[in-house]
Amino acid sequence: MSSEINKKYIVHPGGQIQGELRVPGDKSISHRSIMLGSLAEGTTKVTGFLEGEDALATLATFRAMGVDIIGPDKGKVTIHGVGMQGLKAPEKEFYVGNSGTSIRLLSGLLSGQQFDCTLSGDKSLSGRPMKRVTDPLALMGAKIDTKEGKPPLKIHGGSSLKGIDYLLPMASAQVKSCLLLAGMYAEGKTSVTEPAPTRDHTERMLSGMGYAVDVEGSTISITGGGKLTATNIDVPADISSATFFMVAAAIAPGSDITLKHVGINPTRIGVINILKLMGADISLTNEAETGGEPVADIRVRYAPLKGIQIPEDQVPLAIDEFPALFIAAACAEGQTVLTGAEELRVKESDRIQVMADGLQTLGIDAKPTEDGIVIHGGIIGSGEVDSHSDHRIAMSFAIAALQAGGSIQINDCANVATSFPGFVEMASEVGLNIEEIDG
Ligand code: S3P
Repeated sequence: MSSEINKKYIVHPGGQIQGELRVPGDKSISHRSIMLGSLAEGTTKVTGFLEGEDALATLATFRAMGVDIIGPDKGKVTIHGVGMQGLKAPEKEFYVGNSGTSIRLLSGLLSGQQFDCTLSGDKSLSGRPMKRVTDPLALMGAKIDTKEGKPPLKIHGGSSLKGIDYLLPMASAQVKSCLLLAGMYAEGKTSVTEPAPTRDHTERMLSGMGYAVDVEGSTISITGGGKLTATNIDVPADISSATFFMVAAAIAPGSDITLKHVGINPTRIGVINILKLMGADISLTNEAETGGEPVADIRVRYAPLKGIQIPEDQVPLAIDEFPALFIAAACAEGQTVLTGAEELRVKESDRIQVMADGLQTLGIDAKPTEDGIVIHGGIIGSGEVDSHSDHRIAMSFAIAALQAGGSIQINDCANVATSFPGFVEMASEVGLNIEEIDG
């Protein structure tokens, strides 16, 4: 994986963001298109697929289980589905690199198979909590060994799963999706109740492929023994990748950027809501629906930002966007306070600590708290920061340079390829003065 050949970014200060961009495809939807397309009956054609390492890791696992998958080629993937019972035992263990979505969703889906398999990942993934999926899966009857609640996961096939009624202890689309995927293989009904709404791409795609999903308030239910019918899936541009340019334009005077065909699923638009509360000038045009997911072009023009108390109900709706939002907070007038976001501590890195460290290095008053951060807007200085192999931290500090007093060096950036291949080229195209160097 990319982290073997590391990369640094050097980003020079100043500039503005101008133009039109279509950022790569949505990571969450790309993963799900491969998983559900593989289990469907018939041929699923995917367009706009994210050719990033995480989604490619999921694709490789299904190929290794005998699914004929053609592509990706410029975002096009053709999946010849094998049906619910058609996966074959892999010859080796699955290595899914940095990808939390792969390991957590696959743990549910693979618990329903007749064969054994093992899922492992890179250093960051090997430190991430898996009990949140293995505990409820065990209640369903799955047998999974972990290393003290962390990867690798050894899944013993041939278990007969039974539906459960489960109250999620945290707002997590990965855990919800894991249980819905296992629920397709379980006897009876599996119900998952969420403490707060999280991204619902799994539910939408299951329904779009003819598998009934019942949603009543915050409870989502599925009954085992159904089937999926192949369909065509148009993956929208990823709002989480678009975020870097939204924040870039929001902080750099004179900016005006339009991000094309971005997924604006209501469970993902916390970043738009939060930036608007901070005073950002954001407008949506060309709103449409594609394959059961809403999309729009998002235009962001520079406007001065002010610090806010971030509403806690927006946290799960912007969960991946906080590193970039912290840069917006650093450029805003006054104080921004985030609470209720302890989940950020168990992402690809501890995003509260790592962002606080980097912001402090650049001269910003940023105080981490147990479940959030307090940031006072100020003048961003130059300096050297570490992304801790976290793609979103690397891209966030890259855009910070637009408002910095000098160059920013960001170390350990190779994992940007997990979610945003071509970031440096696209960022340069719209006005960021960024160099990528090996080392
Ligand atoms: C994802 C869900 C989120 C998010 C991750 C992708 C998904 O994780 O952070 O990048 O595709 O379901 P949690 O559900 O653990 O919050």
